[in-house]
Amino acid sequence: KTYRVRIEPSGHTFDVAGNETVLEAALRAGFTLPYSCRNGSCGTCKGKILEGEVDYGVYEAKALTQEERAAGKALFCQAVPRSDLVIEAKEIGLVKNIPIKLLPARVVAMVRRAHDVMVLSLKLPQTERFKFLAGQYIDILLKNGARRSFSLANPPQQDNTLELHVRHVPGGMFSGHVFAQMKEKDLLRFRGPLGIFFLRESERPAILVAGGTGFAPVKSIVEDAIARGDTRPLHVYWGARARRDLYLDDLPRRWVRDHPHIRYIPVLSEPSADDVWSGRTGWVHEAVLADHPDLSGCEVYASGPPPMVEAIRASFLARGLPEDRLYYDSFEFAH
Ligand code: FES
Repeated sequence: KTYRVRIEPSGHTFDVAGNETVLEAALRAGFTLPYSCRNGSCGTCKGKILEGEVDYGVYEAKALTQEERAAGKALFCQAVPRSDLVIEAKEIGLVKNIPIKLLPARVVAMVRRAHDVMVLSLKLPQTERFKFLAGQYIDILLKNGARRSFSLANPPQQDNTLELHVRHVPGGMFSGHVFAQMKEKDLLRFRGPLGIFFLRESERPAILVAGGTGFAPVKSIVEDAIARGDTRPLHVYWGARARRDLYLDDLPRRWVRDHPHIRYIPVLSEPSADDVWSGRTGWVHEAVLADHPDLSGCEVYASGPPPMVEAIRASFLARGLPEDRLYYDSFEFAH
């Protein structure tokens, strides 16, 4: 059965077939609603159902509270229509002309940058040009039908390459495979680009906060800004446990050397006893707060595990950051 959905206030309509979610169908039709995790855990895709019925799907209670649901809200990454719908959601215009593709890619290099981080370089078929916005992610499609999301770490000017930073999760199905069996020339399948984590057009200073391999999209964003000659102030904070976890520490140091508008502040939460470290310590969000008592004139882009993003949300909004200038990419480490 096919249902029709109308988005307000744009008035755009699209069809939803079978058991597709509202979000999947919207993306397929070329309309980008806000979303990030697509797992029912981050709450980014929350919107209002003005008319009609949905199956709410499976989600975490913190992503959609009982009160919100009672007030007509739903998570569009999970909600499946049970009738025609009218929904209220703001569309993200910038990603509109970027098709989401299903493509093969070949592993051309694997470089272990830390004890638990592998940098994978993938090449697309020669004729393919892959359009994306710096900061977006792809889904690697596994043989058993599961998917694993990874941010693209290379800038979009490199449109035939994909660079992924894979963190090894003990017992993880995909990351375990990457660290144990994967070899150069292996073929993968992926779908993308996905997500709405990208630098918005503005002159304001942007504070980019990365946790662990959340550095990947930040790298793409900064390299893209450099390639475009954009001199907007960029403050890069990278939080990691110990020194060895800043797996590309040289690179942001080079950015700073060559570009006066870029700053780099690495922050270690648990420096190990033999780390030679005179830099900042503690939680990365606290370092940002110490440097920026007033965040009302900034934009913040945060990429890292959910506890980091949640700490940022709570503490930064209290320091004057408007909610609509906090962009985040919250991910559970892909297993
Ligand atoms: Fe729907 Fe995260 S909860 S995108």
